Formats: sequence, C-alpha cells, structure tokens
Amino acid sequence: MAYIYMPWLFLIQILVLVGKSKAKVPAVIVFGDSSVDSGNNNQIQTIAKSNFVPYGRDFFGGHPTGRFSNGRIPPDFISEAFGLKPAIPAYLDPTYNISDFATGVCFASAGTGYDNATSDVLGVIPLWKEVEYYKDYQKKLKVYAGDEKAKEILSESLYLISVGTNDFLENYYTLPDRQSQFTIEQYQDFLIGLANNFIHTLHGLGARKISLTGVPPMGCLPLERTVNIFDHDCVKEYNNVALEFNGKLKSLVPKLNKELPGLKLVFANAYDIFLQIVKKPSTFGFDVVSVGCCGTGLFEMSYMCDPQSPFTCSDANKYVFWDAFHPSEKATQIISKYLIKNSLAKFL
Ligand SMILES: *[C@@H]1O[C@H](CO)[C@@H](O)[C@H](O)[C@H]1NC(C)=O
Ligand SMILES: *[C@@H]1O[C@H](CO)[C@@H](O)[C@H](O)[C@H]1NC(C)=O
Repeated sequence: MAYIYMPWLFLIQILVLVGKSKAKVPAVIVFGDSSVDSGNNNQIQTIAKSNFVPYGRDFFGGHPTGRFSNGRIPPDFISEAFGLKPAIPAYLDPTYNISDFATGVCFASAGTGYDNATSDVLGVIPLWKEVEYYKDYQKKLKVYAGDEKAKEILSESLYLISVGTNDFLENYYTLPDRQSQFTIEQYQDFLIGLANNFIHTLHGLGARKISLTGVPPMGCLPLERTVNIFDHDCVKEYNNVALEFNGKLKSLVPKLNKELPGLKLVFANAYDIFLQIVKKPSTFGFDVVSVGCCGTGLFEMSYMCDPQSPFTCSDANKYVFWDAFHPSEKATQIISKYLIKNSLAKFL
C-alpha cells in the first residue's frame, strides 16, 4: 500500500502524544489530616467537618466539599501542576468510583495524627485505617486496571503525607495523657518512630515517590495566638517544637532512602515559606494575618465557622487564614507553588 502523506493525521498523533505525556505521574495519592483532607470526614461521625457554607465558597461552583478551606487545598494544586485533575476526590465519597481514583485519591482525615490517641480525640480516621483504605483501593485498582498496570500506577504515583500538627495541638498540649507519659522531646521521638513505621508500611505496599511534609509554624495559627491576649503574637514554644520536630523528620529522610530499596522520599518543608507569609503578609498581598476570615477569626472552625456569622470577611484573598486553624486558598496556593518548585520538582 502506498504511503499517503496526511499532515492532519501526523498532527493528531502529536496531540495524542502530548496529551499522554502531559501528566508527570499516573496519580497523586494522599494521606494525612485536615491540611490535605478533601472530604473523607463527611462520611464519618465526628464534629471535625466542613461540608457546609461558608467553607468552599471559592471552590469550583462555590461548593463546600469537606475541605477545610474557602477553596482548594495543597494536593489539588499539586495534582494540577503534575498535569492531572485540578481537585483530588476523597476515597469515602460515594459519588466517585475507581475510574476517578485511578488518577488521584485522598485517604486523609481532618483531626487525625501519627498517634492513635490523636484520632481518638474527635473520633476521626486513624493513620493505620487510612492504610487499610489504601489496601482496599489497591484491590479495586487491580480489578479495574489489571495487575501489571495497577502495579505501575502504584509505584509511579506521587504520594503526599501531611500530618503531625494535631498530635501536638489537639492531643499533647490539650489532654493530660501523653503529657504524663512523655516529655515534649520524648513525644516528638515517639511520633518520629511512628512516621518511620508509616513510610516502611507504604514502601512495603509499593509506594516509591513520597513527599513527607513537616508541620507549619503552629504557634502562629489564629486559635493558638489567642492565648497571648495582650499582643496576640505567635506562641514561640509551639513554633520551636515545630522546628525541632521538622528537623527530626528531615533527618529521617536520608536514613529511609538508604534503608528502603527504590524509595525516593523527599522532605517538603512548608515551615519557612509559611512563616515568611505570616511575618510579611503584605509582601504576598495579604492585609490580615492574626485572625481568620471566618467569623471573628479568633476561634471559629468546623461547625463554629457558621454560615450565619455576621463577621465573616468578604474577600478571603486578603487573609492568610481562612478559619482559626487553616490557611486561605490563596495562602495555600503560594505554599503549594513553593513546595512544587523546591521539593517536588524532582518528580516533575
Ligand atoms: C464510574 O462512574 C462512571 C460515571 O458515574 C461510570 O460511567 C463508570 O462506569 C463507573 N466505573 C466503574 C469502574 O464503576
Ligand atoms: C494503633 O492502632 C492499631 C490498630 O489497633 C494498632 O495495630 C497499632 O499497633 C497501634 N499503634 C500504636 C503505636 O499503638
């Protein structure tokens, strides 16, 4: 058969190739707490929820989803930057199925921690159970995509882990148990041991490209600042603990990369950029930093961030924090861009 030159066919082939090579990883797979939960808590009985207005008012369609934000959260921005969908669905959300989850899935649960005792506080999903859901996902993925393809997806995907803040703020500094058992240094080491085991577990299940996020400057979250009634400044002790803990997490990274064959673990440090935004908000286009947009901004989050509240700000882009505990979508986007450029670029 004679070869007929058909430029349009060539063009279509190029478009198909470009389309295929656009995504840098097959999927983004997420574990952690409210910093990355896209709505798993909607499906469980807990007060740690945000699937109602004004949450989500700047999300696609203005819909509350269970994200603790006025808009998108870091995994959404990261997924988009990697050429995948602009929002990652929650695994427990019944409106999605395995064909959606094959290109991105979230197992995170607001209020959880490395420590089982932390997830007990608000009755949310413990980290070990996030892993159980991940195993369940693996089974479904094998049925959906076939053994070979599923194995490839699982080993080539980007895994995001963001957890730890609640272990300190919701658990250690709030309840007596862990304080009576551990000094704060010992508790940090206990959590580091759990982080170490968690990554061993994920590696054993086939994960290779993993980003481990440290904790933010926890003392600067509006809810924590309220203890400094006179100057409303950041709580230094909590920031120091965050720095120490992040330092320990960071040194875990080279150790695990040596120990676990094929592992490409990176430390995603959000602390410095987060603190820069808090210290020089106007440089980043923010007007308000010490209180959140929702309600008075001093304490409101979850059900207290109420649709009836007359004080909620009209433009969340002017606020570093959306509620008393979680950054606004705009702050989240700045932090995500920074992490993509400085920590995740090696997977791009
Ligand atoms: C997933 O849902 C879509 C749309 O609701 C449907 O078309 C598809 O068949 C479902 N796929 C599986 C594997 O269940
Ligand atoms: C957390 O709970 C799970 C399930 O009960 C258990 O398997 C695991 O050992 C616990 N972790 C710790 C550190 O106690």
